Amino acid sequence: MPDAERNRIVIAGGSGFLGVSLAHYLAERGYAVTILSRSAVKLAGPWRHATWDARTLGAWTTELNGAAGLVNFAGRSVNCIKSPDHVDEILRSRVEATRVLGEAVRAVASPPPVWVQMSTAHIYGDPPRAVCTESSALGHGLAPFVGRAWEEAFRASVLPSQRGVVLRTSFVLGRDRGAGSGALGTLAALARWGLGGKVGDGTHGMSWIYEEDLHRLVERCLTNPEMCGVYVASAPHPVSQAEFMRELRRAVGMPVGLPATAWMVRLACRFLLRTDPELALYGRYVVSERVSREGFEFRVATLSVALADLFAKRQRMERVAAGAPSPIRPS
Ligand SMILES: NC(=O)c1ccc[n+]([C@@H]2O[C@H](COP(=O)([O-])OP(=O)(O)OC[C@H]3O[C@@H](n4cnc5c(N)ncnc54)[C@H](OP(=O)(O)O)[C@@H]3O)[C@@H](O)[C@H]2O)c1
Repeated sequence: MPDAERNRIVIAGGSGFLGVSLAHYLAERGYAVTILSRSAVKLAGPWRHATWDARTLGAWTTELNGAAGLVNFAGRSVNCIKSPDHVDEILRSRVEATRVLGEAVRAVASPPPVWVQMSTAHIYGDPPRAVCTESSALGHGLAPFVGRAWEEAFRASVLPSQRGVVLRTSFVLGRDRGAGSGALGTLAALARWGLGGKVGDGTHGMSWIYEEDLHRLVERCLTNPEMCGVYVASAPHPVSQAEFMRELRRAVGMPVGLPATAWMVRLACRFLLRTDPELALYGRYVVSERVSREGFEFRVATLSVALADLFAKRQRMERVAAGAPSPIRPS
């Protein structure tokens, strides 16, 4: 087997925001990447694509044979109105995809020795003030229910011989590489229009992680034999919603941000944004008590640095696209 093949990482659900950004990161570090998704990835990139239906075994399972690691990101976006059919798909896309990956690692002769499983920091629910860690009680409601089911499916699916790592991940702040950038794009647009103020009293938590730190953490999970079990994947300084929007306004250069009451948010989400108002009205503070203790250092630990870096990169890319000279003089 060629070296690159021995270094193959399979990213299930890898065609979206996080999968594409992780695939670029891993490929730059010399890994071979396979993306599993239900239709051909629209973007060209340094990966191989295999089609699956996220429910049944097929030719795609051979991608796992001899792979160095499996990363599972598959799951329908939660950024939608929670109609019964959407809720059903949110749950089934996660549980069934995880189960069939479990069947696949049992079907191949040489399964990947490590499986990194996405989970959500929303599994802790929406406690208004408590700061949740790996050892905190899980919450109540739809998101904790889905999170529990997702993690239970993973525990039942990971091979006894495999190292399994679960990342309860908070809001990922990252660039759009053609596969979206999660909710940050919408929040930044609101901030630019002067609508990025506090929601309600603005005290609910917004926990976040910079994409590069998530990539580094996933790579560490793949390669460090000590890492095992559940981790909170979130930067060490979560902020309130009001502070998050203040920093975002600063990053996009908009001095004002009109505040919104709960009923305004409910109307805007229902009729304009077509999403779940609870995503804006509630939040949580999470930090990890394991990640740093086990030697991982966040490169971007404060929100102002994360946002400044992201928006500076974006402006540089826009200038390059427009053919303008770079303000950075060569040394
Ligand atoms: N972005 C964040 O801030 C964040 C934070 C915490 C956790 N997460 C979780 O991380 C995962 C990836 O997030 P993302 O932001 O990259 O999401 P995304 O851009 O919406 O990508 C989701 C991925 O899941 C697949 N998928 C969507 N619906 C599916 C279905 N019904 N059945 C099987 N696969 C389906 C998509 O592949 P197809 O090409 O097959 O559609 C895509 O590759 C998700 O599970 C998300 O809940 C994200």
